[in-house]
Amino acid sequence: MKGIVLRNKSLSIQNNLERPSPKRGEVLVKVKYASINSYDVETIEGQNALLKKLGGEKTYPVMTGIEFSGVVQSDGLRFKKGDEVYGYPDLAKGQKSHQEYITIKEDYMAFMPTNIDFAKSASLPLGALTSLVGLKDIGKIKKGSKVLINGAAGGLGVYAVQIAKIWGADVTAVVGPGQEAFIKALGADKVINYKEQKLQELSYTYDIIFDLTTKVKFSAIKVLLSEKGIFIPANPFNHIFAVLGNVFRRKKVGFLMVARGEYPKLTEISRWVEQGTLMPVIDRSYEFKDYQQGFDRTLESGKRGRIILKIEDYSS
Ligand SMILES: NC(=O)c1ccc[n+]([C@@H]2O[C@H](COP(=O)([O-])OP(=O)(O)OC[C@H]3O[C@@H](n4cnc5c(N)ncnc54)[C@H](OP(=O)(O)O)[C@@H]3O)[C@@H](O)[C@H]2O)c1
Repeated sequence: MKGIVLRNKSLSIQNNLERPSPKRGEVLVKVKYASINSYDVETIEGQNALLKKLGGEKTYPVMTGIEFSGVVQSDGLRFKKGDEVYGYPDLAKGQKSHQEYITIKEDYMAFMPTNIDFAKSASLPLGALTSLVGLKDIGKIKKGSKVLINGAAGGLGVYAVQIAKIWGADVTAVVGPGQEAFIKALGADKVINYKEQKLQELSYTYDIIFDLTTKVKFSAIKVLLSEKGIFIPANPFNHIFAVLGNVFRRKKVGFLMVARGEYPKLTEISRWVEQGTLMPVIDRSYEFKDYQQGFDRTLESGKRGRIILKIEDYSS
């Protein structure tokens, strides 16, 4: 089996990896497409080491790829051979999806939306799910909530904007230059260009501030929270002390970590896509052999949504 192997902070393709065998509760999936995430770049740089330690991570040759679409190869309890699925591996442990086959617990995937292809399906699962868990379970979003999404044009942000609008929130999106019309078309009510406007100087308050940039500190942003508002950073491990301080204040910091199988929520995401209320957004798609270009693109400014890697039909 082929896969992208991480060794000494650098990546290479290997063709002779052992194909995994499903354990009880898992199925084998032939991966058609996977995404390349900022999270993968952080993994290469060693930034997710603490999370992996907490998860009791064994070392696998393939350490990148946290979303996929593909076809089930073995019968499970819910899924059968031939089913078209999309999903996400556990962030803290186990195999990742930049490889030809993955074994995965059935709760970590759902049936693909019937109206989109494998490429679009691979752009969705964890980005949409993290946005849904952040906004709904942690942020308690409701109709009319005032929501600020910082980093709204990226891989998570494009789904956070759309999902906040599904709940009827009033959404302010913070994006870079040239992204205003794009993010408005996804539903944002107001748009702020972060190159022109400093967040701390805004005169509004928000019930939820969702930070997908990993650059914002609670101490700097809390002035923008409403009385019982919540700040939800995408990387909670940078904000542990602020989370622990929640007991002493009304303004809170959310601990967002998608760390379990969420089949019902992923199924709801499929339904939204089928109804046309949630749109997958692909920035660019790369052939497997061009994976390095895909990783390089992840580091660039000006992306719109997810970067996709075609895993199937690979030839070197
Ligand atoms: N907690 C969880 O369960 C979980 C799950 C998955 C991912 N994550 C984390 O979520 C984070 C975001 O992931 P992603 O895939 O959305 O990353 P991404 O695609 O790189 O998006 C980040 C966005 O932030 C924008 N940005 C950069 N600097 C900014 C600034 N000063 N002000 C406002 N916006 C700024 C970027 O815009 P430009 O194009 O202008 O640079 C980009 O659109 C990552 O750290 C990832 O590890 C968390």
